[in-house]
Amino acid sequence: MPIAKISPSLLSGDFGILAAECKRMVSHGADWLHMDVMDGHFVPNITIGAPVISCLSKHLNAFLDCHMMVSHPEKWVDDFAKAGASLYCFHIEATQDASALIDKIHAAGMKAGVAVKPKTPISTVMDLGHKMDMCLVMTVEPGFGGQRFMAECMPKVKELRAKYPDLDIEVDGGIAPENIDAAAKAGANVIVAGTSIFKADDISGTIESFRTIVNTEQDLLAKK
Ligand code: DX5
Ligand code: ZN
Repeated sequence: MPIAKISPSLLSGDFGILAAECKRMVSHGADWLHMDVMDGHFVPNITIGAPVISCLSKHLNAFLDCHMMVSHPEKWVDDFAKAGASLYCFHIEATQDASALIDKIHAAGMKAGVAVKPKTPISTVMDLGHKMDMCLVMTVEPGFGGQRFMAECMPKVKELRAKYPDLDIEVDGGIAPENIDAAAKAGANVIVAGTSIFKADDISGTIESFRTIVNTEQDLLAKK
């Protein structure tokens, strides 16, 4: 049974003190740290690249969950591996040969994730379930934090979970206390949240409650 992993999105953090923000999230119980990498082509926004990941990994001993919202994901695999990325999650819409890219990521020593945008059918990644380490089902259009959770993406999570009971399935976008139940019930176990964690009055409590809800639902799913 895949256990809950809570991965706060640093996009909602203070980039001027990024390493301190990462450490703060770990001290509040974060399992992973979600780093949103955007190149201005795949999405209408630009964030960070391998040099920043490299600096951060020198200050941290944490699992860096890198969400690559970039047009040529094959281009950055070696740089991110060298920089200390733990998981390299590319978008299925951005590549011609996902299977070869997963091999390249594994050969570079990272875990491989495959992300799908809200309008992309889950059938595009279904056959990769045995090969990828994680599937990211986006619950907003990628590019910006603070958007509304799209509950209509939950059937994709459900379908994937039914076929792959042990796969890490991540959801990203608009996840908050009011919709974590829907994501957990559908079968997601890796929870990305920016706004709802960084803006919470009780960050540790929010992370802990996400974890409890996910693990409870995973337990129920395993017994079905
Ligand atoms: C959006 C990013 C998300 C974003 C989530 O393109 O992939 O990781 O930071 O932020 P919230 O939780 O605020 O929607
Ligand atoms: Zn993300």
